[in-house]
Amino acid sequence: MRVSGLLRLLSLIATLVATWLFLRSSGSLSVKTIRLPRWLGLAPKEIRVPKTKCGLSKPCPANFFAFKICSGAANVVGPSMCFENQILMSPVKNNVGRGLNIALVNGTTGQMVRMSSFDMYSGDPSLLLKFLTEISEGTLVLAASYDDPGTKMTDDIRKLFSSLGSSYAQQLGFRDSWVFLGAKDLRNKSPFEQFLKSNPETNKYEGWPELLELEGCVPQKTF
Ligand SMILES: *[C@@H]1O[C@H](CO)[C@@H](O)[C@H](O)[C@H]1NC(C)=O
Repeated sequence: MRVSGLLRLLSLIATLVATWLFLRSSGSLSVKTIRLPRWLGLAPKEIRVPKTKCGLSKPCPANFFAFKICSGAANVVGPSMCFENQILMSPVKNNVGRGLNIALVNGTTGQMVRMSSFDMYSGDPSLLLKFLTEISEGTLVLAASYDDPGTKMTDDIRKLFSSLGSSYAQQLGFRDSWVFLGAKDLRNKSPFEQFLKSNPETNKYEGWPELLELEGCVPQKTF
């Protein structure tokens, strides 16, 4: 009695397992049938676009920070700054202004330290001078122009930007387009800079040159 009960249980289990195996194999069969058109070229290929930080054209290597800086377009669209996939400043964040927009980032951690915009047409340039003087060692400096970065520019401010690695701050003037990434303790000129002089002959917009875009990978500082 007990033995036949055990046998019945075993045969029940065997039936269940066989059913499961059958369902599984026919299941995979039907999957194969569905997939057939793919290798006939009828189904659209799966396109996987790897998303890069800040939408860069190529991802950055390990121990590099990704960044993208866009200057303002004429006096209409404000500038934007992305660092390690974080939008630091942009018209959408409503934290940009005409003049110079500057964000400071810790060069080791990539954390945003401080950011501000400085009106260089009718503002007080001593505010920007103070801001630049207080930057500590190992800090990355991101800058973007909007409308007019040059009218209130002073020699002291130009010198400070040059010491951060800028090649064009010396000639930055009325309505020029400028995007820049430098660092406090940079000994050489930064490779991350673009500049367009406002020139009525060549300006893309009436009165302003074209907006500039700067993207790249900046090495993380290790102390
Ligand atoms: C960057 O962050 C690290 C860790 O919080 C800190 O020790 C260092 O002083 C910071 N550097 C700057 C330049 O702020």
